Amino acid sequence: MFANIIDGRSIALQVQQDLLPRIAALKARGHPPGLAFVRVGEDLASKVYVGRKEKACADLGIYSKTHVMAEKTTEAELLQVLHRLNGDVALHGILVQSPLPSHIRSERVYSAVNPDKDVDGFHPVNMGKLVLGDTTGFIACTPAGIRELLIRTDIKIQGTNVVVLGRGNIVGKPLAILLCQKQKHANATVTLCHSGTRDLKAHCLRADILVAAMGVPEFVRADMVKPGATVVDVGVNRVSDPSAKTGSRLVGDVAFDAVQKIAGRITPNPGGVGPMTIAMLMQNTVLAAERASGRET
Ligand code: GUN
Repeated sequence: MFANIIDGRSIALQVQQDLLPRIAALKARGHPPGLAFVRVGEDLASKVYVGRKEKACADLGIYSKTHVMAEKTTEAELLQVLHRLNGDVALHGILVQSPLPSHIRSERVYSAVNPDKDVDGFHPVNMGKLVLGDTTGFIACTPAGIRELLIRTDIKIQGTNVVVLGRGNIVGKPLAILLCQKQKHANATVTLCHSGTRDLKAHCLRADILVAAMGVPEFVRADMVKPGATVVDVGVNRVSDPSAKTGSRLVGDVAFDAVQKIAGRITPNPGGVGPMTIAMLMQNTVLAAERASGRET
């Protein structure tokens, strides 16, 4: 690996190792942490992601249970399952894998998860707490994971210019809010760019930390990056590649080979942000269990 590559896999492993004593303490007090996954339909990527999250739970000794529901599941049926999971005292976290089939209104679904079990941080109460800087909620896992990556690689956030590309509810919007809070490991000047932004390149060139989360394959080119900047690639895009065995391959939102030569630090893809999202999900689940058992550490 090049010296400037941020190794998300090993940092995620550190985060997960740090959870082990907290999980052991919960078990010793008779409160083993539990997490429910709900997957609707047969989206291939979702199957892979939920599988990785199940494995992380198994590796850490967190109890998990997965509900697989058919593509044609109605919104009412899904809400009924969530109602049941909300009332199950063995489960401290509930994760409904996104994307949901188009006939299901995702905002209805995320609002139906008990905010105290919303380890994804998607419920309006937890989003609202994030906006207010109230730390009693849950922060969405990918934004939380990106901040943790920066902290654990000693990349200064305070006072820097952060440019976030993409205003999605899962990454861009919550990350922009998180990094501009008047708090430790934040307090940055954040610019949130999107499809309506004029002269996007000029914004990118001012970034000390540039986060690409817009879902456009290899959008960020070397001439958009300030030399020495930190570049974080959140994108997972499947592009066709006749030379690949499957006819396609995964690329990020950053043209890695070229940008890597300009950036001070850069996340690889895969092996950057993805493992951190899972690690923060584990952390939120442990936190939810600690809160439920009345002993937050
Ligand atoms: N799909 C992509 N990222 C996420 C995530 O963080 N949580 C859920 N539930 N679905 C996702």
